[in-house]
Amino acid sequence: MDFAAILQSVCKLRIGVIGDFCLDVYWHADMRRSELSRETPHFPLPIVEERLSPGGAGNVAANLYALRPATVHCIGLVGRDWRGSALLETLAAIGTDTSALIVSPNRVTNTYIKPLRKGLTDVVYEDPRLDFTNYTPTSPEDERRLVEALERLASELDVLCVCDQMPFGCITPMIRQHIIELGKNGLTVLVDSRDHIGEYRHVIIKPNAVEACRALNLPVTTEIPLLFQAAPSLEKLTGKPVIITDGEQGCIICEKGVCTHIPAVKVAGEIDICGAGDTFLSAFSCAIGAGASLQDAAKLGCYASAVTIRKLKTTGTASPEEILNVAKP
Ligand SMILES: Nc1ncnc2c1ncn2[C@@H]1O[C@H](COP(=O)(O)OP(=O)(O)OP(=O)(O)O)[C@@H](O)[C@H]1O
Ligand SMILES: [Mg+2]
Repeated sequence: MDFAAILQSVCKLRIGVIGDFCLDVYWHADMRRSELSRETPHFPLPIVEERLSPGGAGNVAANLYALRPATVHCIGLVGRDWRGSALLETLAAIGTDTSALIVSPNRVTNTYIKPLRKGLTDVVYEDPRLDFTNYTPTSPEDERRLVEALERLASELDVLCVCDQMPFGCITPMIRQHIIELGKNGLTVLVDSRDHIGEYRHVIIKPNAVEACRALNLPVTTEIPLLFQAAPSLEKLTGKPVIITDGEQGCIICEKGVCTHIPAVKVAGEIDICGAGDTFLSAFSCAIGAGASLQDAAKLGCYASAVTIRKLKTTGTASPEEILNVAKP
């Protein structure tokens, strides 16, 4: 299948994203407008622009949606707070289906607020981030509601992407077990997990080099020959093909014990790698769902992430046209 044909077949896909949905908030301050506070010895940050965008699993949902599948269902938990409402609105405005995003009174909506100061010049100075996240485990009641949502949707899905990111996120051991069962029963499941990638079975895992080494208790390396040794061990655990991304070196795929290196696209000039892994997962998952080979899906992942790393100061998404432009020989 050529890349245009793969991307065209994506339009039939019904995709689910389960995991840790976050809200990214950018507060742009114009320091030229700041006046010394009367009460404290501080210059306040006069916010002249606010930008909201979905992060974490939300960024994966946005990247999936940009590839124009039939549907993208978001499955996860948000808090009953202003950030939860804003996140739901942001995801709905993009076009994703948020009916399986559960609003829980026990949860805090994961939010990263980035204050960005500008003064007399164009230099942008980023203050320390303000983070909202959960510090307690997801309750059994929320787990039950998540399982219900997952079971309700699973039979309607062609592909399920998993974004297992936060220490107290919604992918609890029990939810992880449900995901494994879905993979065992034949659903195409693709998993990105910061701390638990080695616990998945019967699904395609997509660790980066660090996550892959940690899962196997190996010294961390980004050397391709060493990753060629690691990938078959991961494949033995999952019983499914494995893909390890390796930053500017691209990725390696492993199927039936045979590893192949797919080089990254060379990108000149300034880049912003924030969200490269999310874009990769999205394009790779859509291609696998559309019936592409592991190798073609990995190439599309590299092309798509080459598009978004060129988009500076935003995580960004890649459209089929932008991806095909990079894919041109
Ligand atoms: N400097 C780069 N030049 C070209 N392509 C890149 C570069 N960095 C990343 N990529 C592309 O993005 C893909 C994913 O990158 P990486 O392995 O860094 O993922 P990650 O560590 O999961 O990222 P994230 O921080 O988003 O979680 C790579 O396989 C590669 O195709
Ligand atoms: Mg990653």
